[in-house]
Amino acid sequence: MTNEVGIKVENLTKIFGSGDSEVRVLENASLEVKKGEFAALVAPSGAGKTTLLMMLGCVLEPTAGKIWLGDELVWDEDHWSIRDTRRIRREKIGFIFQAHYLIPFLNIIENVKLIPLTNGWPDKKAEEKAMELLNYFDIGDKRDAMPSQLSGGQNQRAAIARALSNEPRIILADEPTAALDMQRAVNVVKLLRKIVEEQNVAVIMVTHDERLLPYCDKILSIENRKVVTTTQDAHLIV
Ligand SMILES: Nc1ncnc2c1ncn2[C@@H]1O[C@H](COP(=O)(O)OP(=O)(O)OP(=O)(O)O)[C@@H](O)[C@H]1O
Ligand SMILES: [Mg+2]
Repeated sequence: MTNEVGIKVENLTKIFGSGDSEVRVLENASLEVKKGEFAALVAPSGAGKTTLLMMLGCVLEPTAGKIWLGDELVWDEDHWSIRDTRRIRREKIGFIFQAHYLIPFLNIIENVKLIPLTNGWPDKKAEEKAMELLNYFDIGDKRDAMPSQLSGGQNQRAAIARALSNEPRIILADEPTAALDMQRAVNVVKLLRKIVEEQNVAVIMVTHDERLLPYCDKILSIENRKVVTTTQDAHLIV
């Protein structure tokens, strides 16, 4: 772990709706994950895990508070409109969703190459990176298949490959292992651990599976609309 900020949040508040339908999800929540740190986000259903990840990923606007990704202040309640959130998402963040969201009319390798190509990588480099990731996830032979021709678990692995394709410095993962068997879930978490250490990436991973927690440096939970952080020694190192 370094001392550099990966993700930092100060006094983040998110309120949906108003009046009778108002839902207060977070109120003045703060957290920090350094580069080279792997954090798990664990909280009951409805506590606000996905909402928090969507705000960190610049997909959803906070009601108030500040968010830094690396040394860039990406959300500041006064200056949201000047931020180029699409660029931030494309360049800095790897998203792994619970439902995989591969683009249905592109084949597997096209899905994985899309973000690097959008970021201006030459085709050959994007192709090599995509194949390296697909092979790692045992779906290299599916490169020309369409998402509809893959199983749920294979699609999820392709989606993880896609999230890693632009070598992001920040990975936000919402139950990335939910559709996988235990062995594959552990393999995915080990891979994330390796990326955290070798590439100095900051990861926040939502999980309900306690067996995956020993791979993490930090456990974030949401209690009374605030984030509570527990630091631990990751003792199952790859
Ligand atoms: N667009 C929205 N409009 C109104 N309320 C919302 C909206 N999105 C989420 N919520 C509410 O915010 C709360 C937190 O939802 P969120 O999806 O973040 O929970 P979660 O911790 O990810 O749950 P799960 O473990 O089931 O995925 C819930 O009460 C939910 O109903
Ligand atoms: Mg959720």
